[in-house]
This record gives sequence, C-alpha cells and structure tokens, in this order.
Amino acid sequence: METLVPDLPALDAFARVFARRLHPGSAVALYGGLGAGKTTLVRAVLRALHGSDSAVSSPTFVFRQRYDGDPPVEHLDLYRLDDPAELNELGLEDAFGADRITLVEWPERAPGLLPREAIEIEIAGSGEGPRTIVVSDPDPA
Ligand SMILES: Nc1ncnc2c1ncn2[C@@H]1O[C@H](COP(=O)(O)OP(=O)(O)OP(=O)(O)O)[C@@H](O)[C@H]1O
Ligand SMILES: [Mg+2]
Repeated sequence: METLVPDLPALDAFARVFARRLHPGSAVALYGGLGAGKTTLVRAVLRALHGSDSAVSSPTFVFRQRYDGDPPVEHLDLYRLDDPAELNELGLEDAFGADRITLVEWPERAPGLLPREAIEIEIAGSGEGPRTIVVSDPDPA
C-alpha cells in the first residue's frame, strides 16, 4: 500500500489510519534516509494511540524511549548503533513483547532484532517536500 503524504497534517491523518492496524504485540520497522520523517511519524502514531499530550519525551536512554499508556509504546532509534555486537549489551530484546507496540528507526542496523512478522514502513522524500509512504505487512491479519 502506497500513500502520498504532501505535508504534516497529511502525515497526522496517515498516522491515525495506520495506528488502527496496531495492537499489543505489533512491531514496526521504519525505513527511510536521514530526515525522511521517521521520528515525526512515530510521534504522530503516539498521539493517535495515546492522545495529544502523550508524546512528551523524557530524557532517557539514547537508543530507547518507552511511553507508558494503553498499550505501552517503545521507540527504538538504532542510528548510532554501528556495531551489531553492541546489541547484546544493550538488551533491547525486551523492547518487544505481547503487551506493547514497538516502533524501530534504522532497523537495518540490527539485523535479526525485529520479529519476523514486523510491519515494514518505507518513507521516501526529504526537507519540506512531499513524502511517499509504503507499508508492507508480511502477515496481514
Ligand atoms: N510529510 C511531510 N511533509 C513535510 N515535512 C515533513 C513531512 N514528514 C516529516 N517532515 C519534516 O521533515 C523532518 C523530518 O525529521 P525526522 O526527525 O522525523 O526524520 P527522521 O527520518 O527521523 O530522521 P533521522 O534518520 O535523522 O532520525 C522534520 O522537520 C519534519 O517536520
Ligand atoms: Mg529520527
């Protein structure tokens, strides 16, 4: 499924529709270059799931942010991960679980970390320009 997202309000609308596909246990892999809009989409999905006041980020671990709510949302950003061996020390495996939704930026930095059934999102575009978002779900329910 491919969606043209011309601006930020359209991104919010996309996020609200997309969030309806998510449920506890969902994992989402977010692909796209620097500045494509992965973090912006995560925040919009958080607002859709938890309400407008939820996406207040508290200073925590650089790779991992947890947002309490129903269900809890985990946001991983693996950009700074340059050695996959670091993964073991970080113990990110428990960021995934049947009780939570997990969204991952730069999943390609951690091959094998995400569950096989993760939904894949690819954002193309940059700057102030329009984005194209492709969603592929290997196991559409
Ligand atoms: N659909 C859109 N239309 C216009 N601007 C957008 C759109 N989506 C995102 N942006 C803007 O583009 C920038 C994207 O930044 P963002 O941090 O979300 O990218 P990112 O993919 O997370 O980058 P990084 O890989 O560095 O983490 C933000 O300034 C955001 O406002
Ligand atoms: Mg980002």
